[in-house]
Amino acid sequence: MLGRLNHVALAVPDLTAAVAVYRNTLGAEVTEPQALPEHGVTVVFVNVGNTKIELLEPLGESSPIAPFLAKNPSGGMHHLCYEVDDILAARDQLMAAGARVLGDGNPKTGAHGKPVLFLHPKDFFGTLIELEQS
Ligand code: CO
Repeated sequence: MLGRLNHVALAVPDLTAAVAVYRNTLGAEVTEPQALPEHGVTVVFVNVGNTKIELLEPLGESSPIAPFLAKNPSGGMHHLCYEVDDILAARDQLMAAGARVLGDGNPKTGAHGKPVLFLHPKDFFGTLIELEQS
């Protein structure tokens, strides 16, 4: 089921400052910010060759990453995103195995314009997992 690692996501309190660090201090290629109101975040992607780093800043009043940043004010690793060939088949297989899918269980459109789902961190060793259809 599990394909390649699409990205590692970091929640950051200040996206402009984080982009400056990745672009200027680390010398990385960083995309332009993209607002995703449906997900309550603004994102950029840092291209690191074998995968990407997603930097997430809260967007709106009820951003799902706001509680994470309240607990981790300087930011931190938020989730891992793995690619799957068929997101609905993956969801059904995971739910049959007892894993919890967040939200209403239906994929939303992610930052790459593809369907995504999130899996409960308590079922995966404390790590929030995003699945993205490849
Ligand atoms: Co992500």
